[in-house]
Amino acid sequence: MARRKYVVGNWKMNGLAAALGEAEAIFAAAREHGTVDVALCPPFTLIGPMIAAAPGAAVGGQDCHSAASGAFTGSVAAPMLRDIGAVLVIVGHSERRDGCGESDADVKAKAEAALSAGLSVILCVGEPRDVRESGRAIDHVLAQVAGSLPATFDPSRLAIAYEPIWAIGTGLVPTIADVAAMHGAIRAKLAEQAGAAAAQDMRILYGGSVNAENAAELLDAGDVDGALVGGASLTAAKFVPIIAAGASL
Ligand code: PGA
Repeated sequence: MARRKYVVGNWKMNGLAAALGEAEAIFAAAREHGTVDVALCPPFTLIGPMIAAAPGAAVGGQDCHSAASGAFTGSVAAPMLRDIGAVLVIVGHSERRDGCGESDADVKAKAEAALSAGLSVILCVGEPRDVRESGRAIDHVLAQVAGSLPATFDPSRLAIAYEPIWAIGTGLVPTIADVAAMHGAIRAKLAEQAGAAAAQDMRILYGGSVNAENAAELLDAGDVDGALVGGASLTAAKFVPIIAAGASL
């Protein structure tokens, strides 16, 4: 079965209630581009209000704890996300791996907790600039995939996002050949770990400075099934052209 393109916005720590109009406009446009799956991951505080503003839309979290409940001040558990209507969660973003010291084992535990709570998961991997420059990017990313992949999973509910750290928020993007090579290597690794059929069904998203200008080319690269978009997902004016690019392929 052909994999549907998947365009996901990661609002990071951006967005007050006044931004809900942007989400409404984004989801209205998404309904018109019915061949592409669209989701938004706003800050925790906006998940409930965004679902209320756009009923039926795919809204998710940017992180969850690996425990279902407990004494973890400031954390949010996967069942809590599900409870307010979220349908997905991002785990292992580099801003959490690096900024909050999350290991592959932590990311794996979070992904497993999210799947058990009934959420879909976008599991992020990606290399820092020095690793890319030393020619070890593929080895680095495949080790992250091996270390963070849940023990068992439904391939339709787990997507991988390849996000080179040096491309996030910088305006830099890898060459299309490098993106295709990395995505092909990730799919081969998934086949080794989860079986060929699962690897064929799984979506592998690219993330890092995706915008209206480069989206079509990136989304059309080999083994690229979608985009995880930060800065350019905050407004309908910037995000809808990326959705349209996905729908046109
Ligand atoms: P960016 O962020 O699109 O602003 O580069 C992508 C991400 O971090 O998911």
